[in-house]
Order: sequence, then C-alpha cells, then structure tokens
Amino acid sequence: MTPLPATLRKAMARRREIADLNDGTTDAYRLCDGAGDGLPGIFIDTLAGHWLVQTKGVPMPAELAQAPQLGWKSLWWKRLDQEEKSSLQHIAGERLEHVIIRENGLRFLLDFQAGYSQGIFLDQRLQRRRIQANAPGQRVLNLFAYTCAFSVAAAAGGALTESIDLSRPYLDWGKRNFELNGLDPPPHFFCRGDSFDWLRRLARKGLQYDLVILDPPSFSRNQEGKLWRVEKDYASLVTAALAVTKPGGQLLCCTNHHGVSPRQFQDWLQAGAATAGRSIRKYEWGGAPEDFTGEPYLKVAWLNV
Ligand SMILES: C[S@@+](CC[C@H](N)C(=O)[O-])C[C@H]1O[C@@H](n2cnc3c(N)ncnc32)[C@H](O)[C@@H]1O
Repeated sequence: MTPLPATLRKAMARRREIADLNDGTTDAYRLCDGAGDGLPGIFIDTLAGHWLVQTKGVPMPAELAQAPQLGWKSLWWKRLDQEEKSSLQHIAGERLEHVIIRENGLRFLLDFQAGYSQGIFLDQRLQRRRIQANAPGQRVLNLFAYTCAFSVAAAAGGALTESIDLSRPYLDWGKRNFELNGLDPPPHFFCRGDSFDWLRRLARKGLQYDLVILDPPSFSRNQEGKLWRVEKDYASLVTAALAVTKPGGQLLCCTNHHGVSPRQFQDWLQAGAATAGRSIRKYEWGGAPEDFTGEPYLKVAWLNV
C-alpha cells in the first residue's frame, strides 16, 4: 500500500493545478477529500497552512504528525463519526485560537475553539465568487447567514446586504468578517431571528431583493421549537423566498444533505415556484470546487425568476 504522505503529496499536486488556488488570492481549501483522493475517511482542509483533519471511521493518521515536511503549521483533528459535534483536538504545531484565511482575495476569521464549524464552509467558494462578481448595485438577502460569508462577498462586490440568523454570536462574527475586509457593518443589516418568520415580515412590508440566498442546515428548530427539515419543507422555503425576490431577480438555493438527489432537489424548487405562481426562466447548476474530489453531496441551483 502507498504510504499516506505519498498519497497526500499526490493530492496536493492536484491542487496545484486548480487555477483559482494558484493566483495568490486563496489560502483555504480542501487538500484531501477522502476516497476522491485515495484516502477513504480522511478529509483535510488547509486553513492558511493550519491543517484540519476530519476522520470518519478511521483514526487520526499518526504519520501526519511525524511529517512536518508536508508543510503544515499546525495539525487539528475532528471526528465526524461521533454523535455530538466535537471540538477540535490539537495534535501538533502552533496552538492558536484564531486564524485569518483568504478566499478570492477576501479575509475571514476562523476559530479553532468553535464547536459547530470553524467559521466558513469551504465548499461554497465558487458561489461566493459569483455573488461578488454579480453584486454591484444589488440588494441581497442572506438567510441562515451563519458568519455572513456570502454577505461579505456580496458587500465587497458593491451590494447592500441583509443577513438573518438565529444566533447573535454568529452575526457578531459576521460583522467582524465585514470589518476585516474594510467594510463598515452599517448600512448593512444583521438581524437575529428566524428566517421563516423574517421572510413573512419582509413580504408584508413589500420588500424585494435582487438576490435571495437559501443555504439552510438539513434540519433546524425555529424560535418556537418547531422542527424544519429539508426533505419536507424546502419547497415552502422557496415559495416564501420568491415572495421577496424581484421580477428578474435570482434565488440561490443550496443543500448539502447527502440523501437528496439533484433530481429531487429540482422537483422541490419547481414545486415551490409553482405554489408562489412564479415561473423559473433559467436554472443554472453549481456545486463544490475542484478540490472537493469526493462524493458530490452539495446541490446548488441559481434560479432566474
Ligand atoms: C449550515 S449553516 C448555514 C451556512 C451559511 N449559509 C454559510 O454561508 O456559511 C446553518 C446556520 O443556520 C442558522 N439557522 C438554523 N435555523 C435557523 C432559522 N430557523 N432561522 C435563521 N437561522 C437559522 C444557524 O444558526 C447556522 O448559523
């Protein structure tokens, strides 16, 4: 069997051929995507040189800690096969709490102590780039905003953004991401609240957006404790979002739910649009960037309405 460092070197060489990882604007991406890179169960992200190793069904590969010549500044481990989302375990190298990464020339703050995720979902790099490119003059509504990475991309491109999330600490983190990029948080709007509730309120006020972003978790509880599940409720989310999407505007719909096929996803989008009485002029499919070589779990659709 090929030793792990040799397989990893091959995976790293593949990344050197990906254009947008080599123009000096991005230093956070997936270095190894499990079976897609010949290492089933091992997922490695480089975060400005700090490596986050996630494992599923296999132990932390001990060879990594013994191979600093691979170029890591520090090594952190997260198990994906535990029920409870665990925090990161420090394995080797610098033990820092925060790091600032760059993606498409934008800066984002990451936190190694944060339990749920470190602050950015690297598989959405292409969507962030497209949002930034289309942004001039747009009004953008980002629901389930988390640390506002989509909003930062939109604002950096010249859009006015509104970010909604249930968590105040995540929105505060989002504001710090704005500041890191020289963007003043006001006039942008950060709202702690339930996305479903806010969609109703914004529609009642007659507000309309050029771009509405839907990237929800696979399931969520709203403030009243009511459970929302992607499989059951995505179509109604689309219906509600279309009520605040301008004619000629766009809806960006995403899900990373593994159990949903692209066909099923498209059916939900169509059903949601039909209930809203809106027609979809064009579908464009997006997805994860080339460094995500493994299972294509991320479904992304840009709808022109
Ligand atoms: C998978 S993350 C979303 C990722 C995000 N779109 C991004 O670009 O990084 C899930 C986020 O949804 C938020 N959330 C969950 N249920 C919500 C709800 N009902 N309304 C608003 N935010 C919600 C969580 O607080 C969390 O920040």
